[in-house]
Amino acid sequence: MPLGCYKSAVLDAGNPGMDELLREALGEVAEATTIATVKDVEVRWLGKKGRLTSLLKELGGLPPESRKARGAELNSFKQAVEQAVESRRIEVTRAEADDRARAERIDPTLPGHSMAAGRLHPLTRIVAEVEDLFERMGFHILDYPEAEREYFNFDGLNIPADHPARDTQDTFYLPGGNVLRTHTSPGQVRAMRGLTPPFRAIFPGRVYRCEATDASHEHTFHQVEGLMIDRSVSIANMLSSMMTLLEGVFRRKVEVRLRPGFFPFVEPGFELDLRCMVCGGDGCPVCKRSGWVELLPCGLVQPNVIRAGGLDPDEWEGWAFGLGLSRLVMMRYGIDDIRWLMAGDLRFARQF
Ligand code: DAH
Repeated sequence: MPLGCYKSAVLDAGNPGMDELLREALGEVAEATTIATVKDVEVRWLGKKGRLTSLLKELGGLPPESRKARGAELNSFKQAVEQAVESRRIEVTRAEADDRARAERIDPTLPGHSMAAGRLHPLTRIVAEVEDLFERMGFHILDYPEAEREYFNFDGLNIPADHPARDTQDTFYLPGGNVLRTHTSPGQVRAMRGLTPPFRAIFPGRVYRCEATDASHEHTFHQVEGLMIDRSVSIANMLSSMMTLLEGVFRRKVEVRLRPGFFPFVEPGFELDLRCMVCGGDGCPVCKRSGWVELLPCGLVQPNVIRAGGLDPDEWEGWAFGLGLSRLVMMRYGIDDIRWLMAGDLRFARQF
């Protein structure tokens, strides 16, 4: 109803419109369902430019005898609307708080969503352990390219062009004089060129060989190379580093033996054999009934390799070892087929 109608209704003698006006105001209050709309209603009726104010302004134009009664009437109208607004505001505030609490309610007794926990691959675990052991002995942990210059993979390691290791059967050749590294040893030359001696470092990583796969051969496997360069190094120190490595990984005393071995990049070269951890030396398929497992080739770095590393072999010496990490992982966990390691089969990985 337009405002003008109320004006004339209120101004009528006896004011039957006042009740109607109150009903309208209370109706609007009752319909307000939020704190903001309650406020709107309050402003519309009781505010400075509200309907009540305009009625009060008309008081001055009334004859004095009816002014008092009219004033009292408007006053009680005002009180009634104020009260209604106030109690509505309380209701609405409570309802809004209830809604919010309901919406935000957390039920700690509900069952949670269980998340599938990932596992570390056994190789990842062993690499982390080996890195930790060597870091504590002052070794750098280095990482070198898997796609390697042919020079670093072979020539720099004193492996001449006619060496059988260069046979295409063993090496994946890449364009531009590159290969997929066949061992981690190229890191030796790179480390000597990159670091200032004396230093010690290990470089774990993937290596590749172009060969038919079976239970003990894989085209992709893992090694860790160890290298120490100093003015004078000892085989005893090399041995003790390797023993620390093996006893750290197997978490018990190990029995080893050292015998001569030939590798172009070490002189003298050795093979460190490990008393078979599977049969304890009695003989089993893993050690091919010999009681010993060939695990760690090593030796004193050949002077040509020191030279390729940019160092003077009259001033610097070194020892190096190359450990088959895949072999080590298989022995530690009793894995009987190397192909499991790179198969990407989650049923395998979940066992560790
Ligand atoms: N790089 C050799 C290989 O993969 C292993 C090796 C032998 C590494 C003797 C060495 C070493 O550091 O001294 O077959």
